[in-house]
Amino acid sequence: MTAHPTGDRSASPPKAWTGRPMPWFRLGRRWRALVVTVHAASGVGWLGIHTSVLVLVATAAFSGADPAAPLTAAATLVRTLVLPVSILALVTGLLLSLGTPWGLARHYWVLAKLVLTLALVLGSNLSIGPQVVAIAHAASTPGVELAPVDVTRTAIALALSGVVLLTVTVLSTTKPFGRVARRRTAGGHAR
Ligand code: HEM
Repeated sequence: MTAHPTGDRSASPPKAWTGRPMPWFRLGRRWRALVVTVHAASGVGWLGIHTSVLVLVATAAFSGADPAAPLTAAATLVRTLVLPVSILALVTGLLLSLGTPWGLARHYWVLAKLVLTLALVLGSNLSIGPQVVAIAHAASTPGVELAPVDVTRTAIALALSGVVLLTVTVLSTTKPFGRVARRRTAGGHAR
């Protein structure tokens, strides 16, 4: 586990990249509390929305009932919430990294979250989301055929990406792996 560098939030200047100070951008105590609240709510909210979409698509795939209603509900969640909530989680995560001593490239857990979240934002909004909308359209439009294999495939993609989203949440609370090793200059100073 990594120590939380927040004992005295005003003591040392924030160093976003590999230890370099960033005096031009710093979140004060109140701003930081506000951004953490929005960040945790949007990140964990995204996990909840994602799980709801998964349950609806899995119901359509495996319950044997008419898939039109659950798929229409899943597509509504995708169209209205996934893009803004996922972008909010990403942007507030970047603000917290750059504006606090955590930094963007100082701790492995932050770097891992950044990479996984970027992949999830792209995958959710450019691939899985459009798939959900397409199968919902097929299920509720007379004359358009819905292939059951497409519904099953979408449910599996949602389950796998849900595991990644859960991993990001666990990284947030456990903060594992310690600090990124810093390069040393000729004089022995860490950069
Ligand atoms: C799905 C995406 C994400 C979820 C679910 C998520 C969730 C969370 C949660 C619940 C916390 C509060 C943990 C605590 O205070 O112990 C947190 C903190 C934090 N997150 Fe994220 N996060 C996500 C994405 C990101 C990204 C992309 C970044 C950075 C690039 C990031 C950077 C941070 C930082 C630096 C903190 C510590 C804030 C502080 O202590 O002031 N997060 N995250």
